[in-house]
Amino acid sequence: PLTTTGELITRARAARTAVAAFNIITLEHIEAVITGAESVGAPVVLQVSENAVKFRQGRLLPLARAALSAAEQAAVPVALHLDHVQSGPLLHQAADAGFSSVMYDASRLPYEANLAATRAAVDWAHSQGLWIEAELGEIGGKDGQPPRDAHAPGARTDPAEARAFVTHSGVDALAVAVGSVHAMTTRTATLDHDLLKRLAATLDVPLVLHGSSGVPDDELKAAVAGGIAKVNIGTALNQAMTGAIREYLGAHPDAVDVRTCLRAGREAMARTVERIVTGVGLTPA
Ligand code: G3H
Ligand code: ZN
Repeated sequence: PLTTTGELITRARAARTAVAAFNIITLEHIEAVITGAESVGAPVVLQVSENAVKFRQGRLLPLARAALSAAEQAAVPVALHLDHVQSGPLLHQAADAGFSSVMYDASRLPYEANLAATRAAVDWAHSQGLWIEAELGEIGGKDGQPPRDAHAPGARTDPAEARAFVTHSGVDALAVAVGSVHAMTTRTATLDHDLLKRLAATLDVPLVLHGSSGVPDDELKAAVAGGIAKVNIGTALNQAMTGAIREYLGAHPDAVDVRTCLRAGREAMARTVERIVTGVGLTPA
């Protein structure tokens, strides 16, 4: 059934685990995430990023409606989240399209501008009953430098500045930079667990890990134990899908029916969902 991201995070925290949030691009992604989640009995978040909307020819509704319908029919609780939103017009479609949460990403902006834009997004989201996550760039913007992307290698979130940002923006959750980097295709990232513990102790909102595809299971487990409440995974699904399609077409160079290779891609993604969810223990008991 359809549920809300806030509810899944509350449940996950009570069970001392985190919720897995998978980025969806195609109908096969939706089917694979739900099938995988059902086979291991885990609730999941389906995330649609602004980049995915761009790929879907700028239209949110076709993918959102497919995700909503699949969530309603799923045997596990499924929530819809709009991810990495920079565009105001896209943000403002979230509630009507069935999303219960959004990640508003003004992390490219200097601190004060990020705070002001995020504050406005929070006011709108809360007026719609939505849960809202935000992100800080490399905090500080010291020496008048604009912040680096929060997921640039080496970028880190400063606990004191994060605390001020959360207090003044009113966000419900914060994406933190503790060593993960977006779009890694090897699971070789190491996280700064001391910093994560300090962030968790300093902030009273749930913390979100982005770029989790590049983080090994044991590091993810430690991150969840250290305070991460939502684990965002995108690239690992795409890697599974393109890898399986490549393999299928290599073995069947005369294949014509697109369902043959898409089925292989969908199955590989479902196995990836199962592997990560069980490997990290992202299932509330
Ligand atoms: O918001 C989405 C995630 O941060 C996905 O990152 O593609 O590196 O797993 P990833
Ligand atoms: Zn992300």
